[in-house]
Amino acid sequence: MSAEISPASAGAFTWDRAWRGALKPVVFVLCLMPLLWLIVRALTVGLGANPIEAGIRYLGDWALRFVLIALAVTPLRIATGWNIVARLRRMLGLFAYFHVVVHIFGYVGVDHFFDWAAIGNDIVKRTYITVGMMALVMLTPLAITSTDGMVRRLGGAAWRRLHQLVYPAAVAGVIHYFMMIKAGYQEPLLYAVILAALFGVRIYKKWA
Ligand code: HEM
Repeated sequence: MSAEISPASAGAFTWDRAWRGALKPVVFVLCLMPLLWLIVRALTVGLGANPIEAGIRYLGDWALRFVLIALAVTPLRIATGWNIVARLRRMLGLFAYFHVVVHIFGYVGVDHFFDWAAIGNDIVKRTYITVGMMALVMLTPLAITSTDGMVRRLGGAAWRRLHQLVYPAAVAGVIHYFMMIKAGYQEPLLYAVILAALFGVRIYKKWA
């Protein structure tokens, strides 16, 4: 019997095709949930005694979590053989950048009302802000070059080399977190361990 797919069966419904088609939209909606949750809480129960700081911190947390989630895609694909998850990498990376931008907008626009002199002072005085800025500087070219057109223009090898910047950016994000807190180091420590493990998988894959 021939295993060829006829034009009619090529368009036919299969659960596999349905799940592949639904994966991206479902993950997209899930990625919007943290921000939606923040908005709902802000409009209902409120964000506590210092809502601006709470909002900035919440968005910073999610920025870092999304960076780590995006970084986990390739190790997950290697470990499970689920090649389909590779399709989510760009979207997850852009969600990470989106949360970084909103986090920084919270600081620059909402907390400091675009008072560039005060922000400049802060950058010089508070080293964790400088480190956060370094993470932003490294993540920005990755977001700009995330389109298919930019991958073609740069060439695969150069594009991959550039996108290695995500690791130092994630390290800077974790250091930024460590530097700004005076207690409760468990969470940044957990992120540092996850980042080291993800990096370890890459190194193992490269040398194995
Ligand atoms: C120009 C760049 C950045 C600025 C100005 C900035 C600013 C801030 C500020 C003001 C805070 C809160 C400090 C406080 O509560 O007193 C904060 C916390 C934080 N930021 Fe950033 N940030 C930047 C970049 C980033 C990036 C790129 C990431 C992640 C990839 C990040 C992740 C975090 C995290 C995880 C926290 C701590 C959240 C918590 O306390 O739970 N930030 N940042």
